[in-house]
Amino acid sequence: MFSLKGKVAVVTGAARGIGRSISLALADAGADLALIDLLIDDLQGVRDEIEAKGSMASIHQCDITNPEVVAATFNDIAEQHGALHILVNNAGMTRDNLLIRLSPEDWEAPIRINLTGTFYCTKAAVRFMMKQRYGRIINIASVVGITGNAGQTNYAASKAGVIGLTKSTAKELASREITANAIAPGFIATAMTADLPANARKKLTEHIPLGRLGKPEDVAPAVVFLASEEAGYITGQTLPVDGGMVI
Ligand code: NAI
Repeated sequence: MFSLKGKVAVVTGAARGIGRSISLALADAGADLALIDLLIDDLQGVRDEIEAKGSMASIHQCDITNPEVVAATFNDIAEQHGALHILVNNAGMTRDNLLIRLSPEDWEAPIRINLTGTFYCTKAAVRFMMKQRYGRIINIASVVGITGNAGQTNYAASKAGVIGLTKSTAKELASREITANAIAPGFIATAMTADLPANARKKLTEHIPLGRLGKPEDVAPAVVFLASEEAGYITGQTLPVDGGMVI
């Protein structure tokens, strides 16, 4: 695996699911972690797991939709860790409904968290990365940001937005040795997809060439790769991790 020794990585939405798995994998690769989420009890659990591996993690209760709180949290992180090399924008949510039934609040919720929250965290992190002239930004998008999905106009728009944000960030910051890439997971078994009825799950699986839902551990190694020094000539890309759904 790639070594992230000496690197400081921030992961949002680190308390559970894909974010937890990404945090553990970055720690395994040698990075020090700063973990962000709303769920402080779960964050403590992840920190304990990381410390049990002999790595270091700080935890930060932070709502990524609040720009002042985000800026203060990233200042804290930079002060505590002395640097900030890797940002994984993973925190996200769904608010599914048919377009015709979506209220303005239902429309805005995923845009605010998935897209605007990613912007706030990126802006806060980039201040430190620009001074360092080094950074790796990895945004967790979704295959539905590429393909669209009935019942997810709001979520798909937020994730398509994340892909556009990633490409533009990549172009804007390349001269400072900061790369920005997105990962587009397919259907991954987490709390987010736990409510899927059995028949819908079966139908879905039929459209996945590898014949199964993904696990959080299927996504994490792609993040470690994009966070590595060795991935320094890759920027602005979106990597599907989806069992072959988007080919
Ligand atoms: P999850 O619901 O298990 O975890 C999301 C985490 O984000 C939670 O710990 C939650 O507390 C945190 N979070 C939500 N809003 C927040 C806020 N305002 N401030 C701080 N933290 C906040 O979901 P999962 O499945 O682990 O998803 C992680 C990412 O992967 C999300 O961006 C999601 O859209 C994306 N994704 C998930 C897929 C799946 O099938 N599970 C497929 C494609 C993308």
